[in-house]
Amino acid sequence: MDYDETNEKDIELIELIRKDFPVTKKKIYMNCGSFAPMPLSTIKSITDFLVRCSEDGPDSTSVQEFITSLMKELRILLSQFINCEPEEIVFTQSTTEGLNIVASGIEWKKQDLIIARGGLHEHYANYFPWLNISKKFGVKLEEITIDNKGFFDLGMIDKIAKSNNAKLITLSHVLYNNGAIMPVEEVGKIAKRYNMLYSIDAAQSLGTVNVDVKKIGCDFLAFPGFKWICGPPGIGVFYCKRESAELLTPQYIGGESAIITEENNLVYTDSPQKFQTGFRNYVGIAGLASSLKYIQRLGINTIRKMNMKVANEIIEQLKTISGVSIFGPEDEKLRTSIVSFALDSINPKNMVATLQERGIIVAERDVVGGGRKKAVRASPHFFNVSNEGSEFVENIKAIQNMSG
Ligand SMILES: Cc1ncc(COP(=O)(O)O)c(C=O)c1O
Repeated sequence: MDYDETNEKDIELIELIRKDFPVTKKKIYMNCGSFAPMPLSTIKSITDFLVRCSEDGPDSTSVQEFITSLMKELRILLSQFINCEPEEIVFTQSTTEGLNIVASGIEWKKQDLIIARGGLHEHYANYFPWLNISKKFGVKLEEITIDNKGFFDLGMIDKIAKSNNAKLITLSHVLYNNGAIMPVEEVGKIAKRYNMLYSIDAAQSLGTVNVDVKKIGCDFLAFPGFKWICGPPGIGVFYCKRESAELLTPQYIGGESAIITEENNLVYTDSPQKFQTGFRNYVGIAGLASSLKYIQRLGINTIRKMNMKVANEIIEQLKTISGVSIFGPEDEKLRTSIVSFALDSINPKNMVATLQERGIIVAERDVVGGGRKKAVRASPHFFNVSNEGSEFVENIKAIQNMSG
């Protein structure tokens, strides 16, 4: 795909998009890997929902029917988006919650083995739950060696899986720190070959690259609403393959997730209700449905094209700065629009703070690359434009000049 070509239709589209994101009038916001802004249409859906609850009464038949239809609609939208059945979609609070449902739901035996990428270079949401399990049950956590971009040797995973009681592989689809896209489908084949469970942290992929749970071959996949889908905070999604749901015992139990039989036994209801005890974040569900429609209207291929154009321009301009290290993969097919870098002359924390004072919002993160390092992480999304990329780099140059 040629990410550098722009035509008139693209220019019209971006002008319309930017009107939907008021932050673009005030700031250069390139921090969607952390928390993306919502389009105005989502904010309207949320207020419409709240007004409706307020006017009709939240526990009135009409509002309850509306909530039921909203949840059904969102389940269908999400199932089309990631290629699964609507009943395989569980509404959670966050990615972290989804991953913990898996880690704490499996009946672990001491001889089991979990395979993870080098843990300290994973997002802690996809490391601590497994570390916790290994400490609690004596399960072995095998941390695969990674190279300085975060990739690993597939043969090594195959070897470990073959020669051990390997029970589960966990992997981030896209790395939070440098945007590297992991070979999730290839790892899925290994998981299948050795009959292992396969869990994916998709926090940094949903809404920026195509995600197809059947192609990946995973049992579980978790992501939030508030990053690349531009939805509200406090609502997440957990894909749980129908057959694999039986292997998980929920940590919570309550009205919606179980029944009591005549013999006084507690029996879990089927997934997704099994994992959804208590009221859900209905406001978040209203907002997420609206944001997801926005993302689907644009289409992931268009979003990726727009994102990569800006990211590639930033990388090319950064390369002209002396003493710069760029941490993501060179090959654009192997990365998203996350651009992580550091300068020899100024520490990333100060750079991020100074950029913020200048109205440019990015983040500081840890990266691999000859040990553990700090980096400035820019994560532009489809509402960012080339001029903003250039202004970002010009400001970096100016800050570097001032500091040295
Ligand atoms: C890869 C990855 N996993 C998990 C999380 C945590 O997401 P949540 O807040 O939805 O639990 C993040 C957040 O930055 C992330 O980047």
